[in-house]
Amino acid sequence: MAEEIKNIKESFKKDLEKAENKDSLENLKVKYLGRKSKISQLFSNIPNLAKQERGHWGKELNILKNKISSAIKEKLSKEVQKEEKIDLTYPAKYPQKGSIHILSSVTKEICLIFKELGFNVIEGNEVEDEWHNFSALNIPLDHPSRDAFDTFYLDLDKKDKKSGSWLLRSHTSPSQIRIMQQVDPPLAVISPGRVYRPDVVDATHSFMFYQIEGFVVGQDISFSHLKGVLLYFARQFFSQEVQLRFRPHFFPFTEPSAEVDVSCVICSQKNKQKNKERCPVCKGKGWLEILGCGMIHPNVLEACNIDSKKYQGFAFGMGVDRIIMQKYQINDIRLFYENDKNFLKQFPL
Ligand code: DAH
Repeated sequence: MAEEIKNIKESFKKDLEKAENKDSLENLKVKYLGRKSKISQLFSNIPNLAKQERGHWGKELNILKNKISSAIKEKLSKEVQKEEKIDLTYPAKYPQKGSIHILSSVTKEICLIFKELGFNVIEGNEVEDEWHNFSALNIPLDHPSRDAFDTFYLDLDKKDKKSGSWLLRSHTSPSQIRIMQQVDPPLAVISPGRVYRPDVVDATHSFMFYQIEGFVVGQDISFSHLKGVLLYFARQFFSQEVQLRFRPHFFPFTEPSAEVDVSCVICSQKNKQKNKERCPVCKGKGWLEILGCGMIHPNVLEACNIDSKKYQGFAFGMGVDRIIMQKYQINDIRLFYENDKNFLKQFPL
């Protein structure tokens, strides 16, 4: 028995030295303390020993077993510590930073350009009534934009007969009315915000998008002022080289009215009309439509109790989504609303 114990001690000493990781130490536990281990065999052999020797060898075996067990435990805990040690030279993980959404940053950029010209930024209401969204803007009762297919009406009690139904504004133009009702001219206001239309969502339509409305009311305001302001804006926002083109148009709230195109910011009109390598953004036309505008209709001023004989004004409205899509060659409006970080992080701010 003494010989056997000595052998176990020696072989354990060697094995323990060799065991250099958690797994090999776990294996040692099985080899020396498990049910099939040498020590277990010796324990089961004790009843075969002479009676007076049984107590002595039982004790010896227990001492051996405990020593082996604590030696393994001690080395195991050292290994665990080693494995969990923090490597201070390892590059740190940076917390993920959010960024300003491209729609917000461009809205801010556009408002800033107008602020430099003396405009005030005032937000309107997203929930409007029929009077502010249509009637006060000289939009007739039978105009198709009033249809439930083109405007989200809200299932709320009407305020009064004149105001009509509550709705989600279909454009930012009612901001003009809210402000003109409250503040006397002279006025120069820029009003950004969300607008809603029940369009079927596709690459160029969304049921919610962003517009920026601008208007000026004062004495001796003419179409030239409108042209000057818009050209200044376009050259600040796109580039100093761009040209503007005003095409006659019709809007109920302005007279005369125009749609405004900017010379293509992508191809600079270089491949205008060349069918072979047509610019993907202007499609070879050389121009991109950016906004609608005109001189504020006298009926609109009068609806806000502004004397249209004494005061004139101009107004314009642009779609922020569309302008960004043109400037950055984005071909699907849905990208703005999907919160795909890979898309958004291209515009860090
Ligand atoms: N409200 C028009 C729209 O949503 C845009 C617009 C056109 C605004 C001409 C104006 C304007 O102020 O003068 O399509």
